[in-house]
Amino acid sequence: MLNESQVRDAVIVALDCDRARALELAGLLEGRASWVKVGMTLFYRYGPSIVDEMRAHGLRIFLDLKVHDIPFQVKGAVLSAALTGADIISIHGLGSSAMIAAARAGAEEAAEITGCDRIRLIAISILTSMSPESLAEIGIAGTIEEEVSRLASMSYAAGADGIVCSPQEAAGLRALLGPDALIVTPGIRPSGSDAGDQVRISTPSAAIAAGSSKLVIGRPICHANDPRAALDAIYSELLGA
Ligand code: C5P
Repeated sequence: MLNESQVRDAVIVALDCDRARALELAGLLEGRASWVKVGMTLFYRYGPSIVDEMRAHGLRIFLDLKVHDIPFQVKGAVLSAALTGADIISIHGLGSSAMIAAARAGAEEAAEITGCDRIRLIAISILTSMSPESLAEIGIAGTIEEEVSRLASMSYAAGADGIVCSPQEAAGLRALLGPDALIVTPGIRPSGSDAGDQVRISTPSAAIAAGSSKLVIGRPICHANDPRAALDAIYSELLGA
């Protein structure tokens, strides 16, 4: 059973919108949300300044850039991203253990420069929008569960702090990786809400019960008529879970 501060620490509001709307949402959720996700939609357009603006609202930042390149480039990318003051960054597990080790080296170098806590690295396993058919389409033969477990074990051993996966894989990964791994799950839909393009979904309480550390929730909050009420309803569901 989570208490109020644990519940607030467990929800990351995904701001997939423009700067004006992100600032409006930061104002609407002020004093309620603890974490926001700044992803490619915001970061590619506004860069580190959007991270500064969200931090000025007292928000902690998950920078969801899904970094995927050769190790040398990834070390530099994570170093640069860490200097924005973000708390967590995503990298692609498919980039291999060498790429993840390079990301870790970039994160450690940034912490030495700033004297602040090291940015946490979470490895993307298989995107929550992907189905068994889309996995087959890109030539991966295993099941989603097999692929997620394989990428998770490799990434965690190579220096990632945790994994991004669907809530449907969270219980298996918690058992595989142990209690310290950061298990971050998008694909969260309160019951009755529209799945949109997400395929492997769960309710907030089911995701926490399955062992998720943090839930990334976008449209069910940001597209609601009253985003603050939508976030509060999710907190209430988690407090009662
Ligand atoms: O709007 P919705 O709740 O579906 O948003 C989910 C968020 O989680 C999006 O910002 C998306 O980029 C992110 N995400 C995801 N699947 C992953 C990693 C991140 O949906 N594997």
